[in-house]
Amino acid sequence: MSAKIIDGKALSIQVKQNLKAEVEKLKEQGVKPCLAVILAGADPASQVYVKNKIRSAEETGIISLSFYFDNDVTEEEIITTIKKLNDDKTVHGILVQLPLPKGLDETRVLKEISDEKDVDGFSAYSVGQLLLGREGFVSCTPLGVLELIKSTGETISGKDAVIIGRSNIVGKPLLALLLRENATVTICHSKTQNLAEKASRADILIAAIGKANFVGADMVKEGAIVIDVGINRVDGKLVGDVDFEAVKEKAKLITPVPGGVGPMTIAMLLNNTVISAKNSLK
Ligand code: GUN
Repeated sequence: MSAKIIDGKALSIQVKQNLKAEVEKLKEQGVKPCLAVILAGADPASQVYVKNKIRSAEETGIISLSFYFDNDVTEEEIITTIKKLNDDKTVHGILVQLPLPKGLDETRVLKEISDEKDVDGFSAYSVGQLLLGREGFVSCTPLGVLELIKSTGETISGKDAVIIGRSNIVGKPLLALLLRENATVTICHSKTQNLAEKASRADILIAAIGKANFVGADMVKEGAIVIDVGINRVDGKLVGDVDFEAVKEKAKLITPVPGGVGPMTIAMLLNNTVISAKNSLK
């Protein structure tokens, strides 16, 4: 039987519609939600991501400020901008698009974003809060993955979840999020032995490694929920980390690429920005 598709595009539109109403309410209370985006260098993928983030923010009624730097920008120049934005009470979220140009220390730069405005949830503080089960911003792709799973109505508690990929942006925060939902979580990575066998035990399988079509049907349990975080370009076409055509015959639920996790990442960024704007009222 063919898997049911989890439609991330449709879910993101629903989330953004709800946010638009919340943004209107905030404006009536005198708060105009505002997201500042910093892009350094000319990475084509980053340029597309930033453009999409700004467009989605504006569609939702969120003000966006953008700061573009050349490839030869210094850490100090970016940090000066971050500090100004930290002090600006009209700004609720600050996002530094990654990767930064070669030679720049991302950890040092991200550390400068104030905890209250770290809507990307990338700083050591935000990641630490998540791991400790305390309040703080959670990074947007893992949050989007969780919302996609929840939207299916399937139970997460007690399930075996396997994440393929241990990145700071996706794999590690997702581990903490799924643990918080009481799943039993395994992370597989490039040094994992018998990866296919481990993956094929998962009730919930998440692929986040950036290798086109890496997950084949042999790695998937019959009836699993499969979430594909990968975005890879093959012969000019976007494909995920999952061999969609093969795996959809085995999985119960599956996300497509494009139209799965990607739109939800942006929706969660806007959601975090609105939360930060609401917090400013407290
Ligand atoms: N680079 C790749 N994904 C992301 C993201 O979600 N946020 C930022 N800031 N940079 C990224």
